[in-house]
Amino acid sequence: MTDFSSICRLLSVAAFVQACSSSSCPVMECWLVQEKVGRGGGLTGATMQEKSLLHVRTDAQSHTDSHHVPSDISPSRVYVITDPAATLCHHSLNPPRGSIQKPQCEINPFLPQPSSLRWVTSLTESALSPIYLQADWFSASFQGLDEQLGVSAITRAPTGTKDHDVVLSVTSKTMSASSRLGEPVTLDCGFWADPSSPLTATGFAVEWRYQTRGDGRLVLAYDGKTDRLAETREEGATLDFEGLHTRGNASLILQEAKVRHSGTYICTVYLPYLLAQVAIELEIVEPPSLSLYPSPLPLAVPGQTISVQCEASGFAPLSLELSWEFKGADGKSRSLGTGSMSGHKQAWDGTFSQSSRLELDTSRLDLGRGGEVTCVAVHPGGTRRASVSLNIIGFSSPSIEDSMAMVGVALVLYGLIKFVSWTLTGSGSDKTDGQDKKQK
Ligand SMILES: *[C@@H]1O[C@H](CO)[C@@H](O)[C@H](O)[C@H]1NC(C)=O
Repeated sequence: MTDFSSICRLLSVAAFVQACSSSSCPVMECWLVQEKVGRGGGLTGATMQEKSLLHVRTDAQSHTDSHHVPSDISPSRVYVITDPAATLCHHSLNPPRGSIQKPQCEINPFLPQPSSLRWVTSLTESALSPIYLQADWFSASFQGLDEQLGVSAITRAPTGTKDHDVVLSVTSKTMSASSRLGEPVTLDCGFWADPSSPLTATGFAVEWRYQTRGDGRLVLAYDGKTDRLAETREEGATLDFEGLHTRGNASLILQEAKVRHSGTYICTVYLPYLLAQVAIELEIVEPPSLSLYPSPLPLAVPGQTISVQCEASGFAPLSLELSWEFKGADGKSRSLGTGSMSGHKQAWDGTFSQSSRLELDTSRLDLGRGGEVTCVAVHPGGTRRASVSLNIIGFSSPSIEDSMAMVGVALVLYGLIKFVSWTLTGSGSDKTDGQDKKQK
């Protein structure tokens, strides 16, 4: 390992920084946030932030380079974190040296304690070695550069030392997810627990909570010790139980995305006395369906005002811009503005509908003899269009074709009149009519 890191150092001189950093673990700057200790020695409730430096490694034997401590970090705030699962060595937590964007990191002192939640209490039924708990504990949370990776870890160091071991880590690779309506959704969450820790022998529990604007509810809770789903408050929500036990895959599966599923989901994994959690944002995005009324449009004469309505329905979230375009015979499109927007309505399934009414003044010269009127809906789920053709009958300024047609019609009419008057004055038409009636 020492050899490898020295090779890396050499290579990075030769500008192979990327190759090396992607296969090694990061040295991260991290905020240490803890409650202030007041004069009396008690906690004041106020917090203080201090910069710290974390050296991450995957095994306790590997050497860490502890020379370069930035001047704004106290040497007493330099920690070594051993993460055998290498979760913290993900490339998004280890940007190339000198990059402006940095992964986010915060560590807080953590106090192990038994949970009173029904699906977790079984984990602490038998009193476990409290000596193991007497140590320095941290809860650390990390967010990768791509804003997709979130890791939360509980680490332990023998009291007074700076060498922490990851005991539990919970990871999500979809910190923000989006889905179309009605599709199955998987919210990624996985965990790793140190098999050498006495806490992992007992079992684990998994809990998914939903939260949005102050409204929180339990989605499901699973007691891994008794292998029992303690609670499911959400229809169609499940876990992959085999993957959960074999690979620590605690991903939440929602069978059918609904509008009310939009919000924040918190995946919490419990070990006896410990818990770690990650939050995942889910947005259900469904573009609108458009319909135009009336369709087809009635024939219009210049000067007439035709009213067209565009109704967008079945969309979510409520973020929609409707506008109108017109494409004339010249093939050029131009804007007809936004029309007048209606208020929105919400359907039983949570989707929205909204419409825009356009008053088309056909005396406007630029409409010519008509063309295509299009309603354009711009939505986070995509842009949708619907068109209808507009025909303006050109009485006021007849085109050549119109004039020819009129001459033609006049000629035919003239011919008809001529013919009718000839038949009336010629052979006796009254007689023929009379015979027809008799036959019936
Ligand atoms: C976890 O389980 C989900 C649902 O079965 C699956 O889609 C996903 O690929 C699994 N993840 C891993 C890392 O195995």
